[in-house]
Amino acid sequence: MPLVNTTEMFKKAYEGGYAIGAFNVNNMEIVQGITEAAKEVNAPLILQVSSGARKYANHTYLMKLIEAALAETDLPIAVHLDHGDTFELCKSCIDGGFTSVMIDGSHLPFEENIALTKKVVEYAHAHGVTVEGELGRLAGVEDDIKVSVEDSSYTRPEEVEEFVGRTGVDSLAIAIGTSHGAFKFTGEPKLRFDILEEISKKLPGFPIVLHGASSVIPEYVDMINQHGGEMPGAKGVPEEMLRKAASMAVCKINIDSDLRLAMTATIRRIFTESPAEFDPRKYLGPARAEIKKLVKNKLINVLGCAGKA
Ligand code: G3H
Ligand code: 13P
Ligand code: ZN
Repeated sequence: MPLVNTTEMFKKAYEGGYAIGAFNVNNMEIVQGITEAAKEVNAPLILQVSSGARKYANHTYLMKLIEAALAETDLPIAVHLDHGDTFELCKSCIDGGFTSVMIDGSHLPFEENIALTKKVVEYAHAHGVTVEGELGRLAGVEDDIKVSVEDSSYTRPEEVEEFVGRTGVDSLAIAIGTSHGAFKFTGEPKLRFDILEEISKKLPGFPIVLHGASSVIPEYVDMINQHGGEMPGAKGVPEEMLRKAASMAVCKINIDSDLRLAMTATIRRIFTESPAEFDPRKYLGPARAEIKKLVKNKLINVLGCAGKA
């Protein structure tokens, strides 16, 4: 099966009341862990690449890894640019074989966000590529830039129809209280489901995207802290909130931090338990297995997309 864009998978997800997992990939073990899990439970997948991932691993290497995963799994897989910030970056990914891109103009004034997003949509659609836009601003860390809670803002429901209508985007990322990274809440986790509800009433049938949706799984945070790490107070989005979002208009749920935590926790544990170990396969292999376990659980028990490929 060739790589697919997100049109079909989002239509089915919306109608079926589940979400597609969009997992960030940076190296071979991450690609393998995610795609092996999806194969075992027959789930559609979005593998997403940030500009930082592209700088780290190189576009061609990542595409070849994903092509290999496609050949091994025969699943519907979309390759998506995560947080594209310029037309040129989006164009380069589209020309290089991505099937979906995000143009993130959420930091721009409304009219500028529309103009930039529309330009990307025109180019992408002419190449069969789907586009995600963003309105509202998440707190947290993206590409090494920290957005403070004061600079973050919820999506304004009164703006979404105009934004989607004038840009032609295929999906919309919104801000309802999630944030990037491992420190999402200082007190009790809270998401503005009322805003999501209002947006979905204004855009019936339209796929919504949730960024910053890692659960920051406590077992991994504990394992990191027990083996020399320092992540006190790390906290994520509870799984039941993600299940609720997936049953509503949210069709794509972005997960990166949980993959990082699973990998780091496993490697830290092995380094302290087996200090003489110096064969990378002996710690990267178990890290890959842990990512597979984590992704399998998300696909079956959180996103609800197992069996939907
Ligand atoms: O939204 C941010 C993602 O976790 C990607 O992070 O830019 O460090 O690759 P990155
Ligand atoms: P997390 O940091 O919660 O994993 O969010 C990832 C994300 O939104 C990527 O775009
Ligand atoms: Zn994001």
